[in-house]
Amino acid sequence: MARMATCVFLLFGRLVWASDSLPPLAQVAGSPQQGERIFVEREAGHCVLCHQVQGLDAPFQGNLGPDLTGVGSRLSAAQIRLRVVDASRLNPDTIMPPYYRSAGLEQVATDYRGQTVLSAEQIEHLVAWLATLEQSGG
Ligand code: HEC
Repeated sequence: MARMATCVFLLFGRLVWASDSLPPLAQVAGSPQQGERIFVEREAGHCVLCHQVQGLDAPFQGNLGPDLTGVGSRLSAAQIRLRVVDASRLNPDTIMPPYYRSAGLEQVATDYRGQTVLSAEQIEHLVAWLATLEQSGG
């Protein structure tokens, strides 16, 4: 029994590892301008709670997560999308909330059950903006 569980775990781990990226969630191309707004606004993504981006016009930027300055040079749009949708697919212990996963979420208020934190369009806006963040030489 324990052996079987280990096999299942290994297989699952492999699948998780194998998919490092995700194709677009919505038909409409994301807008970088809207993405930047969603990143900052408390009522939307409020990603600045944990992340900072150099040059971003936001009064408070947290550092619980990695600095996302130049993230578009490090990761493809599809890789960024996977991390915003559900970072726990890569790191099961991550503190980053899954923004587009409704199944398996515990302690979700009844009104929000079955819904995702952000819409597919909002995710695409965020990805569009983050993908434009390139590392500048100096
Ligand atoms: C509660 C803190 C927290 C919030 C809120 C948060 N993140 Fe994260 N994020 C993290 C942490 C921590 C990581 C590092 C991944 C890990 O834990 O394995 C991360 C990783 C990432 C990465 C991958 C960065 C890299 O260099 O690999 C991206 C992209 C990202 N976050 C985008 C976002 C966006 C967009 C939002 C808002 C919708 C957001 N995050 C909200 C904590 C957070």
